[in-house]
Amino acid sequence: MDQRVARAAHPGRTASGLASDPVTSTLVIPLVARALGDSVFPGFAVGDALAAPALEQLDVDVGPFLRDKASLFGVLSRTRLFRQLAFEFFDRFEQATGANLGCGLASYFQWLDRGTNHWLDADVPQVMQLRRRLLPPPGKHHREVAVDLSTEGWWQRLGLPARQSNKPVVVICEGVLMYLEAREVDHVLKEFGQNAPAGSEFLCDTLSWMATGCAALHPSVCHTHAQFKWGPRRMRDFTAPHPRLVLLSEHPIMEAYDFSTALAFASFRALWGVPLYGAVRLGVRG
Ligand SMILES: C[S@@+](CC[C@H](N)C(=O)[O-])C[C@H]1O[C@@H](n2cnc3c(N)ncnc32)[C@H](O)[C@@H]1O
Repeated sequence: MDQRVARAAHPGRTASGLASDPVTSTLVIPLVARALGDSVFPGFAVGDALAAPALEQLDVDVGPFLRDKASLFGVLSRTRLFRQLAFEFFDRFEQATGANLGCGLASYFQWLDRGTNHWLDADVPQVMQLRRRLLPPPGKHHREVAVDLSTEGWWQRLGLPARQSNKPVVVICEGVLMYLEAREVDHVLKEFGQNAPAGSEFLCDTLSWMATGCAALHPSVCHTHAQFKWGPRRMRDFTAPHPRLVLLSEHPIMEAYDFSTALAFASFRALWGVPLYGAVRLGVRG
């Protein structure tokens, strides 16, 4: 078992070890939600057949993560949203490619494989190594590639279709951007804007700038020692990195949790002009 992830998976025993790679260790949070959250929120179940077997091999102390009901809900809700948006994308482009950047131990292709489309899962090398140990090997039309999104040129290194091609790509990037520096987020979005073929989409979740520096207050992330480093101050932050970028839609994630959450999130959005936590769907001009 990857020691960094092992330490994250045992929040009670993490004090000394987590500093080595706190961001990578955050993958345990969505993994626990997809593995065990269905019974807590049956109305938002995702039916992830691969998460529970992977989690069992990690021997995780799930207690602290299971107690954080809002995060469990948030992960299930965003998984259902991104899966639906990607599903609709593949309805329009049956032979297109989907890419999960910073994939952790997520397995979207179990739901989205329709025999004609292609899928790519990418994360830092130690996570890809972990995937090889914990998840079934990728099948036909499915690739797994190591990548560091904070270094330029990742689009080409991942072998994604060139801008001139007629093969659009749907990118999922969830639970990732808030852990990157602002300039790294700009580069990720700029690279998508520069390279993505017409029709491509970039789906990501977004945590407001007001949360930056406040990860210690988050009931799950605090166990990993990762820090929130970036959040948008205005919606234009998503499109400013490249002139081809357009905001196609914005989606709630937490609003169905309960009435007071819905009210608080709607008020925050109205007051500050960005979601406290939500999702956005970006496109590229042709
Ligand atoms: C909270 S986890 C989310 C994992 C997955 N997206 C999910 O929802 O299950 C954050 C992930 O971002 C990845 N990540 C962080 N910085 C990265 C970078 N520079 N390049 C590639 N992956 C990165 C981490 O390794 C980790 O797997």
